[in-house]
Amino acid sequence: MGDMRALRNIVVLTGAGVSAESGIDTFRSAGGLWEQHRVEDVATPEGFARDPDLVLRFYDMRRAAIQTRQPNAAHLALARLEAEWPGELLLVTQNVDDLHERAGSRRLIHMHGEHLNAWCSACDARHGWTGPLIDRPPCPACGVPALRPDVVWFGEMPYRMDEIYAAIARADLFVSIGTSGAVYPAAGFVHTAREAGARCLELNLERSQGSGWFHESRLGPASELVPAWVEELLR
Ligand code: OAD
Repeated sequence: MGDMRALRNIVVLTGAGVSAESGIDTFRSAGGLWEQHRVEDVATPEGFARDPDLVLRFYDMRRAAIQTRQPNAAHLALARLEAEWPGELLLVTQNVDDLHERAGSRRLIHMHGEHLNAWCSACDARHGWTGPLIDRPPCPACGVPALRPDVVWFGEMPYRMDEIYAAIARADLFVSIGTSGAVYPAAGFVHTAREAGARCLELNLERSQGSGWFHESRLGPASELVPAWVEELLR
């Protein structure tokens, strides 16, 4: 068998680039969200405490917008891979849109939360939520008008990290798609995966910040690179 490790367990990490061709703005591109808004204002607990209306309006607009968008060929290819791959596949996304699940992905972790969830800061309940929060609707569980977007802000802990690290420790292949590698802990997954002996592949429009950590980088739009890579794996 030599030193070729059998390819069975795959962890895929996605970022905003996978949804860009669905018409959802990325964060760090020219004209991206973080050029239009200050991160400190709309994506931190302190910003929310200072000006909750600004923050709620920002997420209300994003929540409404994603519901008008559709999954693209990259989301669909990842769902196909989950359906047809005989080994283990975990999809970890930093995205808060629901395009992966609408494309059909099921083994999916939203490490930065979800636009279509509201989280009650009074009773800790989470509720599927498609409408606005700006008018301070009561929490369906406790009645207190204390709902906030269920999105992880800077300074808060991403979700389900234990499960993610456990999957990376078992991974034979780690694939990062459409992420700039600017935000930890996700940006560090490639280091962990390499230490665990996984092959590391990057699919991105341009080289990411951690590009040098990958064994291979393929550059181009996700809607082309991802279906081609899935086809190659399933062949
Ligand atoms: P970024 O906006 O930082 O990076 C998006 C990456 O996708 C860039 O490297 C682009 O080159 C690439 N890209 C753009 N269009 C693409 C396309 N069509 N095909 C392939 N790649 C493309 O977004 P993220 O890396 O996801 O966190 O950002 C990480 C986190 O920072 C987000 O989850 C968010 C943000 O602050 C929170 O809100 C907690």
